[in-house]
Amino acid sequence: MTATSRYSAVAIVLHWLIAAGILFMIWLGWNMDDNEFRFQLHKSIGITILMLTVARIIWRLMNPVPPLPAGMKHHEKALSRFVHFMFYALMLLMPLTGWLVVSTSYDFDIPTVIFGAVSWPDIPGVGFLSNELGHSIILNVHSKLAWVLIGLLALHVLGALKHEVTAEAGVLKRMLPGIFGSPDRPRPPPQGYFLAFGTAIALFVIIAFGPGLFTGSSSSQATPASPGEEVTANQVEPNWDVDYEASSIAFSGTHEGNRYSGEFSDWSAEIFFDPDNLDRARARVSVQTSTATANKKLYTDSLKSPEWFDPSGHPAATVDLTGFRKTEDGYTANAAITIKDSTVNVPFTFDLQIDGETANMQGEATVQRGPLDLGQKSDPGGEWVGEDVLIEVGVTASRTG
Ligand code: HEM
Repeated sequence: MTATSRYSAVAIVLHWLIAAGILFMIWLGWNMDDNEFRFQLHKSIGITILMLTVARIIWRLMNPVPPLPAGMKHHEKALSRFVHFMFYALMLLMPLTGWLVVSTSYDFDIPTVIFGAVSWPDIPGVGFLSNELGHSIILNVHSKLAWVLIGLLALHVLGALKHEVTAEAGVLKRMLPGIFGSPDRPRPPPQGYFLAFGTAIALFVIIAFGPGLFTGSSSSQATPASPGEEVTANQVEPNWDVDYEASSIAFSGTHEGNRYSGEFSDWSAEIFFDPDNLDRARARVSVQTSTATANKKLYTDSLKSPEWFDPSGHPAATVDLTGFRKTEDGYTANAAITIKDSTVNVPFTFDLQIDGETANMQGEATVQRGPLDLGQKSDPGGEWVGEDVLIEVGVTASRTG
């Protein structure tokens, strides 16, 4: 027999890696318990399995596999080939239906971020399935395919064990690393490394970063439809110039009991403030919502979705500060905060130090995300994301002119 008697090292590694991944994924799928970390992990490993499967199929086509033992009966060979074919189909279908599940989610709008690092888009063109019926059918298919996998796995393991014991050369050994398995016979050198792994990596890169090819709801490439909303009402005659390099607008709150935080990198403020003329004091701030960055990519991506800041539809949020008063330990003003189409009024308290021509201000306000229509699709009850959001502002400014 000139054909190889064992699987190649690459085939063995891919086999056991994917097998372990799938077993873990079935367990994880059943134990996600509404835990966002587990959901993201499930999606990340699932997409990895999809890419490894692409590599594995190409590798299989490029490298001959050992023939089934000669002593196997005809129907056993047919069953074995059928099970292997079905495995390949399921290794593709499991992740693809999972990806379809998240792409057709109609009641949640949570992005996919692969291992916390790479934004993963939704499958394009499946909007017609993003409803209760379509989504539940796909979820059901994804869930039932796991049972088909388990059934196949049972047949596969039983087959491997039976022929390990009865077949002359054994079959399990051929899929074990050389130190455990049978000795190798001469075989053609493995080929197709570049094609197999290059294709898988290229596919991943094209889907994750290919502009315009895939534009899912998780798309972090969302760009504002217009440069910014006009600041029209009651323009302020500023008497301070803000040093934006030295100033910041930050936000923080809780997600699943952990603190999240972030800030906006592009905003502008027009400030008129004179401690001796508080009646005239006024500030108008315009914040480019697309520039919000948080401490986790998942949060940054989420903020760009329509249910949060919706920067494509509403590029700017505004804050109008009026009604300034001196307090015992600083100042307070009324902040009218407008995000998307909702406005809330909350107190903004701050400390101020004016030193000659320079002013330093540290202030904060707390808003509730409900009245601001933030995250009301995925978590209206504040089950995961805390209702309160703390906004902290630090401004360094110098007198105009
Ligand atoms: C080899 C790959 C995969 C396996 C073996 C697998 C397995 C499973 C299993 C067993 C469940 C539980 C179903 C049930 O409740 O009965 C599940 C749920 C789920 N899977 Fe996967 N999965 C895979 C890939 C993926 C991928 C790539 C994604 C998304 C990108 C995904 C998204 C989901 C989601 C969102 C759910 C939960 C649905 C829900 O309960 O709302 N899966 N998966």
